[in-house]
Amino acid sequence: MVGISSKVESIPFSSIRRMSELASELEKEGRHIIHLELGRPDFDTPSHIKEAAIKALMEGKVHYTSNYGITELRHAIADKIRTTLGVEYDPASEIIVTAGGAEAIYLAFASLLEPGDKVMVLTPCWPNYLHVPKLMNAGVIEVELRQEDDYQITKRRLEEFYDPAVKLIVINSPCNPTGGILETESLEALKEFALEHSLYVISDEVYEAFTYDTGKHLSILRFTEIKDRVILVNSFSKTYSMTGWRVGYVAAEAMVARAMVKVHQNLIACSTSFAQAGALAALTGPQECVQEMKKEYERRMNLVVQGLNEIPVVRCNRPKGAFYVFPSVDAFGMESSEVSEFLLREAGVVTVPGSGFGKGGEGHIRISYAASYSDLEIALEKIAIAFQKLR
Ligand SMILES: Cc1ncc(COP(=O)(O)O)c(C=O)c1O
Repeated sequence: MVGISSKVESIPFSSIRRMSELASELEKEGRHIIHLELGRPDFDTPSHIKEAAIKALMEGKVHYTSNYGITELRHAIADKIRTTLGVEYDPASEIIVTAGGAEAIYLAFASLLEPGDKVMVLTPCWPNYLHVPKLMNAGVIEVELRQEDDYQITKRRLEEFYDPAVKLIVINSPCNPTGGILETESLEALKEFALEHSLYVISDEVYEAFTYDTGKHLSILRFTEIKDRVILVNSFSKTYSMTGWRVGYVAAEAMVARAMVKVHQNLIACSTSFAQAGALAALTGPQECVQEMKKEYERRMNLVVQGLNEIPVVRCNRPKGAFYVFPSVDAFGMESSEVSEFLLREAGVVTVPGSGFGKGGEGHIRISYAASYSDLEIALEKIAIAFQKLR
């Protein structure tokens, strides 16, 4: 008998993966499927970034780097945080280059959680926040953000869910899957709540570059008094279309960073050497590529929001950031997993059931518009025709 750990057994595979698997079965039968389930930009990585990585490879930068990451990149990250957020981090001891935001979040949980501790998570959320604490024998308290509140939070609501075992709270703005953005009042409520109860805050800002209309990315770090309790997580994956490079970073007070680097050392030792050189070029090179991607996402978002709202009974909020819409499909009287599976079979379009994103996700599906404009046009037509059959 294989003796798989019960902690691992308690974690489900992500619903994104399940939908991709169902889709690939249909593809094997020869069906053309449009993939709108992935949180993966469809753009190529800008060429100056690729060239920097190739140059590093050709120069023999193929060895382990410092566990914290290459010095130049850590300095560039510290400069970037100073100029965009106005906060100082010591590149020698407070910044770690990681294998994407995913590793950064793992390091934070692994370094801070004791068995029996609890993590407060604002949901609907990226599923990793719900799963990884379980590996540390920690509990999760889900605090649902509601569409009717524009996905904002008050201190009063946070207090309703507080329990003395809570050690940290996770926030993600702009948010996957809702596209919501935490405004100043919400961030202030979170800051006060965290300081009052001596909590750590993991602030996952991987979608910071993509905000629309008047939405502006705001970090909890604007309240400098909370800096020592914040673990800032960011990544090159989404901003520069570098998901396969696996480079992200974490910024935290030196003692917390020291603990995280210990876990990082035991996990991967360092982020890939030449990928770090590419990330350095991404941060220090021209930023027009990011603006172009953002403009294109906004064009696609307009198409998708309008197309979905033209379908009777589907209601789609205009997201303020990231590259997902999270329309409400509860009027069909089916579970979100049934709706996603129906759309896959009927329309040949892969979406993700909202139930996979924690409390408040049921009744919705997630559609990623990190796909080509023409695929989105075809998908919307097919979704509209398929939904007609349900009414
Ligand atoms: C909210 C959020 N955080 C972190 C990540 C991790 O991204 P990566 O590990 O590629 O940096 C993702 C990926 O989808 C995400 O949606």
